[in-house]
Amino acid sequence: MRPLADQNSQGGSNAAFIDSLSSFSRLHRAQRWEGTFGDFLTSILPGNPAALARTSHEYIWDMLRWHGRASAAEATETQRARELFKRELFGIDEPLARVVDYFKAAAAGSDVGRRLLLLLGPPSGGKSTLAILLKRGLEEYSRTDEGALYAIRGSPLRENPLNLIPTSLRPEFRERYGVAIQGELSPWARDFVEREFEGDFVRVPVERVFLAEASRVGIGTYAPHDPTTADIADLVGSVDLAKVAQIGDEGDPRAWSWSGAVYAASRGVLEMIEILKVKREFLYLLLTLTQEKNVKVSRFPLIHLDETILAHTNLAEFHKFLQEKENEALLDRMVIIKIPYALSYRDESRIYQKLVSGAPAFRNVHLDPHVLNLASVFGILTRLVKPEREGLDLAKKLRIYAGEAVEGVPESEAQRLHAESGEEGMNGVSPRFVINAISNAITRGNTHSLTSMELLLALKDAIENDARMDAKQKKAWIDHLVTARKEFYNRWVKEDVHRAMFASFEAEAQQLLEKYLDEVEASLDHRQVTDPITGENRPADERFLRSVEEKIKVSDSGKLSFRQEVVRKAMVAFKAGEKFKLGSHARMREAIEQYLFEERRDVLRLVTSTARPDDEARQKISVVQQRLVTEYGYDEHSAKEALSYVTTLLAQE
Ligand SMILES: Nc1ncnc2c1ncn2[C@@H]1O[C@H](COP(=O)(O)OP(=O)(O)OP(=O)(O)O)[C@@H](O)[C@H]1O
Ligand SMILES: [Mg+2]
Repeated sequence: MRPLADQNSQGGSNAAFIDSLSSFSRLHRAQRWEGTFGDFLTSILPGNPAALARTSHEYIWDMLRWHGRASAAEATETQRARELFKRELFGIDEPLARVVDYFKAAAAGSDVGRRLLLLLGPPSGGKSTLAILLKRGLEEYSRTDEGALYAIRGSPLRENPLNLIPTSLRPEFRERYGVAIQGELSPWARDFVEREFEGDFVRVPVERVFLAEASRVGIGTYAPHDPTTADIADLVGSVDLAKVAQIGDEGDPRAWSWSGAVYAASRGVLEMIEILKVKREFLYLLLTLTQEKNVKVSRFPLIHLDETILAHTNLAEFHKFLQEKENEALLDRMVIIKIPYALSYRDESRIYQKLVSGAPAFRNVHLDPHVLNLASVFGILTRLVKPEREGLDLAKKLRIYAGEAVEGVPESEAQRLHAESGEEGMNGVSPRFVINAISNAITRGNTHSLTSMELLLALKDAIENDARMDAKQKKAWIDHLVTARKEFYNRWVKEDVHRAMFASFEAEAQQLLEKYLDEVEASLDHRQVTDPITGENRPADERFLRSVEEKIKVSDSGKLSFRQEVVRKAMVAFKAGEKFKLGSHARMREAIEQYLFEERRDVLRLVTSTARPDDEARQKISVVQQRLVTEYGYDEHSAKEALSYVTTLLAQE
């Protein structure tokens, strides 16, 4: 049972939640506004005329910046505007920057705003997620003071009330309020104003609107179904026969069904899923809509529409589309932004973490601390292009992309490598493939604990049973699994097990480092060392120094310069008032770790060597296992596996 205090606080937080729900709905009610256009002009417009005359592009750009308002002070405008997407999209900062730049330029009135934004990327690479974030971002923003939007009440297009101002009065309006009105009244609104108010537009009702995809307010989505039956009416509506019977006039805007996606999206965004699958007729309509900001339907003059089209498609569709010559002109009228897969395994691992924590299959399942990283390493290996440079292989390239220091490769190399392989990230394994493989392994094995080795088996199984892959690709991917294990997992798991052999690994390592430094300094200065226990003087312990250095293959002829370099680094730290720590010298760290591991190797030997271990051996092993559980993120099952795996590895060395 939970302690009482805890229960109380739970009750308290329930109440707090209900409170915040009711304040949300109070706020929402308070935010509503209704009045005539006359009221709007006197009480709403003077507050911020520019905000009320915004186009959808300007509105989205402001929305993006609004979501980034809490960013660090030194963040650039583009960085701020990316915040909304960065909540859920990892490892694709550059493409996100390009998306954000599109909105910035479009909002500034650049010509790109007249071209359709097309996100192009491999399957399950985050395109839909990006669109969802944008839509949710708009919904939230429209509820804020800064994002308040007003519309002619009852208009199926929720058109801007400022469109009511006749063309002849617009120059004066501009003079007075400093903003230009860009829209035109729709046929519906024109009819409405004439019929209900005899043209007296000041009396036309206006209301504040809140964007909402669910109620098709300012957010429209179109997904192509069967292209043979797809009807352009889904986009632009059609004559509503029942209404024609009532009204008696086919040309009456009231007899038109304004339910098309382009109307739902008016003032906001139209998401076009798999846009290249739609009929060419649709595509022309959409391109005209972005370029001219209007659509043409039979029996009405051009209908002005202010909205942003966000389209996406995958590579396979895109290549098919490219093959038709006539499509070239269409592509010219699109801004194509590539949304590739992540290329750093650390980012990829965050993606998996996100997917795993949201999936019911993973609830109550323990993953050993390397499962997701290892899966990510495999994922990235399938996406990378083999480096041309001598001495560089895929594994090293992968580490460089993740920001790790790789011996013999300067940091600047990362930039160059990225530049060299432009198409990287447009193919390879998708996050969905990996997550599916893992969840299959979990459900099939009915297990509550998954180890890295089990993960590798699950991936291997998924590859072998994938009907879409040919034998050559299967082999290549299975090779990547081997690389992931040998070059990454082995290193990680060995380090865990080694460290778990010490009660306090960090402290012992630091002590050893300090001893090494003392001895090195004595040796360089040809000084004597005073033994702390006996108080006797003795020369520097060359044997000790060499046994540390040999762990990282410092040769006899290279030892002097190595030692000088270590001392120099230590001096720098000392002068800066810091302690020289293992973390600040990658090679030294490796040497010390190896040295310590060597010392304790016998514990591991116990795991295998004694068929029936005695109490003492069993005790030693169980302490290590326990530490793996309490300090290194393993559970009992994975700790056992890790221990015996590392033992076999050592046996092979
Ligand atoms: N870079 C990323 N960062 C975070 N999550 C990602 C990333 N890429 C993909 N995902 C996740 O993977 C899943 C699939 O992505 P999504 O559906 O957005 O892909 P898509 O590009 O629309 O794919 P498709 O072409 O198959 O429609 C989502 O849950 C998404 O959150
Ligand atoms: Mg999608």
